[in-house]
Amino acid sequence: MEEMNSQEKPLIRALGGHAEKRPPFWYMRQAGRYLPEYRSLREKAPNFLTFCYTPDLAVEATLQPLRRFRMDAAILFSDILVIPDALGQAVSFREGEGPVLEPIREPRELARLNGGRVLDHLEPVCATVRGVSRALPDGVALIGFAGAPWTVATYMVEGRSGADFALVKRWSEDDPEGFGRLIDLLVEATGDYLLAQIEAGAEAIQMFDSWAGVLSPQGFERWVIEPTSRLVSRIKQRFPQTPVIGFPRGAGKLYERYVLNTGVDAVGLDSDVPVDFAAKVLQAHVAVQGNLNPALLTKGEREMEDAATRILSCLSKGPFVFNLGHGITPATPPEHVARLSELVRNWRGP
Ligand code: CP3
Repeated sequence: MEEMNSQEKPLIRALGGHAEKRPPFWYMRQAGRYLPEYRSLREKAPNFLTFCYTPDLAVEATLQPLRRFRMDAAILFSDILVIPDALGQAVSFREGEGPVLEPIREPRELARLNGGRVLDHLEPVCATVRGVSRALPDGVALIGFAGAPWTVATYMVEGRSGADFALVKRWSEDDPEGFGRLIDLLVEATGDYLLAQIEAGAEAIQMFDSWAGVLSPQGFERWVIEPTSRLVSRIKQRFPQTPVIGFPRGAGKLYERYVLNTGVDAVGLDSDVPVDFAAKVLQAHVAVQGNLNPALLTKGEREMEDAATRILSCLSKGPFVFNLGHGITPATPPEHVARLSELVRNWRGP
């Protein structure tokens, strides 16, 4: 049997602006600790980054959720913090605590970073992309990803998650030139990395800007829209056919500016974005993706099903990819994910 080419796959068609009768679906953080088979695979590596840099393990982690739920897309198994690691910043993941980085807080500390070694360091991630690409079920698309520069910078400056962003906000406001050098470095490294993922077989790209929502409108323009649009142009120059999904989580009213000014093909909606606004305002310009509240997936039952049905009814008349508004949480019962996937797969219109 001949393999389906990328442009015919439901995910790629939807991201390209087609309204599919049955919308394609996948879930942010679809691989991970809520799956027992992930937890046992994870024990084979001494720490999380080594796990990400071992292609056999990362390929398997990428494919695990597809076997259970038959999504329309696989997302590369890796993490957004492999970029600071590749730049030479010390990054570690501690059980129950999340990531810890040796923080960079002033321009002179940027000398610790080396953009020249990024592709060598991340070669194992590209090997994972090639491995998944060979093993992909027919019709399923492979999504590559990276953190957007602003979000990655928040971790690099604060040194951990769960901080209040006081340090990164202060640096970006008081010394935009110095902070801009960090952002420029990230635009460059992230661009190299995303192009390498596409060369290795990624068929679409998602940029996670998980902390876009903490910026003022001016900060959003300068640190979210501007770097994202530079990255999108660089990708489009080389690979005009590869769709780019932007996910400016928490952007609220600024979602519209993001869609109009970054050049993304599709936008990921967090759970706070009203679907009627998304249908009327955003879907006129780009494909939309989202946005079931992951807490409802953890709960399951009628509430989950009713919310998913509302989203499908409202957004599936235009170009749409069903997803969550943020990642699956570790407490989610896999049976709920199975039930939701059935519901989306059987959707044939309201
Ligand atoms: O299935 C997938 O979606 C692919 C893999 C993936 C991971 N992280 C694996 C992971 C993806 C796409 C990410 C993105 C990511 N990582 C984001 C953006 C999306 C979001 O959630 O906002 C962010 C902010 C990170 C940074 C990060 N990585 C944090 C804050 C943590 C700790 C919190 C947590 O969930 O544990 C991680 C660790 C991480 N990344 C795990 C996984 C499966 C858990 C670690 C483990 O399994 O030991």
